[in-house]
Amino acid sequence: MEKFVITGGKKLKGKVRISGAKNAILAMMPATILASGVYRFQNVPNLRDVWTMSRLLIDMGIYSELNDGELFVNSHEIKSFEAPYEHVKKMRASFYVLGPLVSRFGKAKVSLPGGCAWGPRPVDLHLKGLEKLGADIDIEGGYVIAKTNKLIGTRIHLDIPSVGATGNLLMAAVLAKGTTVISNAAIEPEITALAKFLVKMGARIDGIGTNMLEIEGVDDLHPANELIIPDRIEAGTMLIAGAITEGNVTIENCNPYHITAVISKMEEAGCEFDICENKITVRMEGPPKPVDITTAVYPGFPTDMQSQWVAFMLKSNGVSKITETIYPDRFKHVPELQRLGAQIEMSENTAIVYGGKKLSGATVMGSDLRGSAALVLGALIAEGTTEILRIYHLDRGYESLDKKLRELGAEIWREQTEEY
Ligand code: EPZ
Repeated sequence: MEKFVITGGKKLKGKVRISGAKNAILAMMPATILASGVYRFQNVPNLRDVWTMSRLLIDMGIYSELNDGELFVNSHEIKSFEAPYEHVKKMRASFYVLGPLVSRFGKAKVSLPGGCAWGPRPVDLHLKGLEKLGADIDIEGGYVIAKTNKLIGTRIHLDIPSVGATGNLLMAAVLAKGTTVISNAAIEPEITALAKFLVKMGARIDGIGTNMLEIEGVDDLHPANELIIPDRIEAGTMLIAGAITEGNVTIENCNPYHITAVISKMEEAGCEFDICENKITVRMEGPPKPVDITTAVYPGFPTDMQSQWVAFMLKSNGVSKITETIYPDRFKHVPELQRLGAQIEMSENTAIVYGGKKLSGATVMGSDLRGSAALVLGALIAEGTTEILRIYHLDRGYESLDKKLRELGAEIWREQTEEY
């Protein structure tokens, strides 16, 4: 196991390059199931989740190799139509193979991500949509068993604009017979990127970028190459790292249009920005003003930036309320931040942050990807040294986070630990 050892108090200064979007490549890799052949993806981040998806595809007979930001996939030899629990339990995105397998081969056996179909990690929208497209869905022994002779286009309305359900159903509909309309579809940039990639493969999709997707099924698709869009959540996290340390940080290879809500709230908190094309510079002097946020689907304030905002508001000179509306319980970072001296009260799905309290280094433990990012941000402003355990959570979604922060002047080191 590894841990981060961080000594707080350093102002971050300099430039950092944002990596490719985890949630875009994790959706496109399963899309290679839809057409046999060789695919080349560029600007692919070197992340644990990409390795996990690679291993899942390899176990299905697909060649997948990541080399220095380029991912080669060859889906000529698909031999297995299963996504076993060992992969899906590690990464919910493994569930994305369901739609492509059913659509192309008429069969799939995919482990439920965790819990049952209806909770606590529900996939009911995925399954209801596939049933509407004509798949027979059974659940046996923690697995979804899907079968069909041929998916038939239909109208699907999503009760929740689920990112995963939109991606899975989009990949199912592109080879269905006839027209499918997905209404209340997710419009996150990663879904838009997936739709554009599918069109490159020969799919016929109208309404890309809107919450009404119309898919005209085709008989077959062909491989394509793709350049992965920048990771908007890494971008937002790095901007807050610059601001929380009262530094001056420029992030490069980003898309400012993908993080307008985060930039707007940071401006409200007193941050100054220079924004041009694919670069953003943030400057901050003194503590941020207390600013309330409520998470929402895109283009609202992203749930994946909620924990980072809690950390940022620890530095503020007042009281702020952070409300989570996407997930029922996404506050595992709060008790760990309290170990650093943070004063935070929970009221249902709202964290009330009493900013300005002195934070002191301590040993804390990550329990999920974005919550762990909040612990890093807290450690950057805590007095003394903080140790963050279980940083494999961070390695799932941030490429070389310690190296990038060190290059900006942070005192952060990765060390081995015997902690299990
Ligand atoms: C994607 O997860 C992202 N993961 C998550 O990012 C992100 O937090 C989430 O979208 C919301 O933006 C990937 O893209 C790999 P959802 P996903 O389906 O698709 C409920 C990160 O940090 N729901 O939009 O699983 C669900 O319980 C990760 O990079 C149902 O009720 O999210 C949740 O409350 C974390 N039934 C809400 O919808 C369903 O069938 C949003 O989930 C599906 C979802």
